[in-house]
Amino acid sequence: MSRAGAVLVVLLASYVAYCLIDTFDPETVRGKTVLVTGSSSGIGEQLAYHYARLGANVVVTGRRENLLKKVVARCNELSGKQVHKYVVADMNRMDEVEKFTESTFNGKLDVLMLNHGYNELLELWTGHQDNLTMHERVMNTNFMSHVFLASRLMPLLEKSSGRIGVTSSILGVIPMPFVASYSSSKHALSSFFSALRMDLVLQGSSVSITNGIVGSTATERHVSELKKYIGRPDIPFATGTPEDVAMALLKATMLRQSEVFAPWLPALSFIRILRVIAPDLADYVIRYGEQSLRQGN
Ligand SMILES: *[C@@H]1O[C@H](CO)[C@@H](O)[C@H](O)[C@H]1NC(C)=O
Repeated sequence: MSRAGAVLVVLLASYVAYCLIDTFDPETVRGKTVLVTGSSSGIGEQLAYHYARLGANVVVTGRRENLLKKVVARCNELSGKQVHKYVVADMNRMDEVEKFTESTFNGKLDVLMLNHGYNELLELWTGHQDNLTMHERVMNTNFMSHVFLASRLMPLLEKSSGRIGVTSSILGVIPMPFVASYSSSKHALSSFFSALRMDLVLQGSSVSITNGIVGSTATERHVSELKKYIGRPDIPFATGTPEDVAMALLKATMLRQSEVFAPWLPALSFIRILRVIAPDLADYVIRYGEQSLRQGN
């Protein structure tokens, strides 16, 4: 091997080793006030549990009060403190963000986990009025409400040099068929908050933003949707557990990392690169993958 080659290998190995070092300090969570949206189930619910276990004061929110009550009870149990609470809010309606005020957080908000999102059905876009109605709903819930909520809570986050963690998706990086609305809402979400991260720096703000690129996660809803979609009882590709994905999002947010993949799928990076150098081929590969999945091959 040439000397340059050896240097390259050493650099690469050091980089991989560096990426594997876990520099997260659980103590950074203790005493923080955290709002987790979409926390009645799935990844949001697990985020709430992780934060509570690590000593944060958690505010959970979602539409279903009965579920929120259970999540708060579990948070109390995990932390041994009755400090957690819930706010019932429907993030399809922008005026609902007004339910969150300084007093919701006793005057101090340190971390905003923007996690809520609406999973549309896996269907082709035909341009029917139904599709437009659905699209408006998806964009409101998955994108606009995040912008409204972050803007409303920014003064509080500024005071605490806070952190924002965003649960986006691989579909916010790679468009796929059957999910045009969902995919575009997640693209908007990732782009807005990645741009805002730079706007904040330019304004001298110390609020950080972490864009979470979440891959296939075995939440109850996702698994049942997928089973219906591909028509078989098992899921043919690797999925992360909601617990692990939530922990990856929590750590990256607390470490103020710009971006995190959870779970990390090497195939994704390949498709991302392919889309840059050969977009037609990338489209073909994605379509082909999608079709063989549907046919259960
Ligand atoms: C679009 O609307 C048609 C007619 O209601 C429906 O069959 C199709 O599944 C819809 N597609 C999406 C993406 O919602």
